Amino acid sequence: MDTALQDSVTTPAKKKAWAKRWWLKPLVFLVALIPLVSLVYSLLTGQLGPNPIEVLTDETGEWALRFIVLGLLLTPLRIWLKKPWPVQLRRMIGLFAFFYVVVHFSIYLFLDQQLDLAAIIADVIERPYITAGTVAFLILIPLAITSNRRMVKRLGKKWQSLHRWVYIAACAAVVHYVWLAKGDRIEPFVYLAIVMFLLVVRLKRVIA
Ligand code: HEM
Repeated sequence: MDTALQDSVTTPAKKKAWAKRWWLKPLVFLVALIPLVSLVYSLLTGQLGPNPIEVLTDETGEWALRFIVLGLLLTPLRIWLKKPWPVQLRRMIGLFAFFYVVVHFSIYLFLDQQLDLAAIIADVIERPYITAGTVAFLILIPLAITSNRRMVKRLGKKWQSLHRWVYIAACAAVVHYVWLAKGDRIEPFVYLAIVMFLLVVRLKRVIA
């Protein structure tokens, strides 16, 4: 049985182990909300500087990427640590990644572009970094929709193939970042290196 299907099966032993760590999910949930709360607080208290829209766009984009990378890290972490808890967090981390992407995209759509559809379409076509970000976002939509346990069971092996697309989304998101940063920053290349490393680890497991 593949990893995702295995993870969806709840055995009494797993139930017992998870019951012991009842606090983990609520804790991670609260921690994952901190960036949002902190951004809203900074916005309301006027601490975002002269261009709050730019800061909000950049911060939510960075958090989206951090959660995407963290989500990719959880399965290898389970294997390396030989502990089940990282996988318990996978769905929640994936959904937080999607949540921050939706906030990021909404800021661009409503605050930056003020829903000017012609300008948005022109941006998607003419600015390669926006094209890459849009590709990443579009890939994440079906993954978020099918992330619940019912869909894992219903789609069976197809679920695994569909969710491998998260690597393509991560690559597109990193390309988006590398392109917009125009090579004058180190962070996009750090994310690029991490995503490439995790991709190689994943490919090794598929081939083995
Ligand atoms: C998975 C999807 C996406 C991720 C992970 C992501 C991530 C990021 C990151 C990390 C940044 C740079 C933050 C910084 O400079 O500190 C950024 C900036 C930006 N993103 Fe995204 N993004 C995504 C999708 C999109 C989409 C769909 C759009 C619009 C259609 C978009 C529009 C922008 C814009 C306008 C900026 C600011 C560019 C600038 O500062 O000049 N992003 N994004």
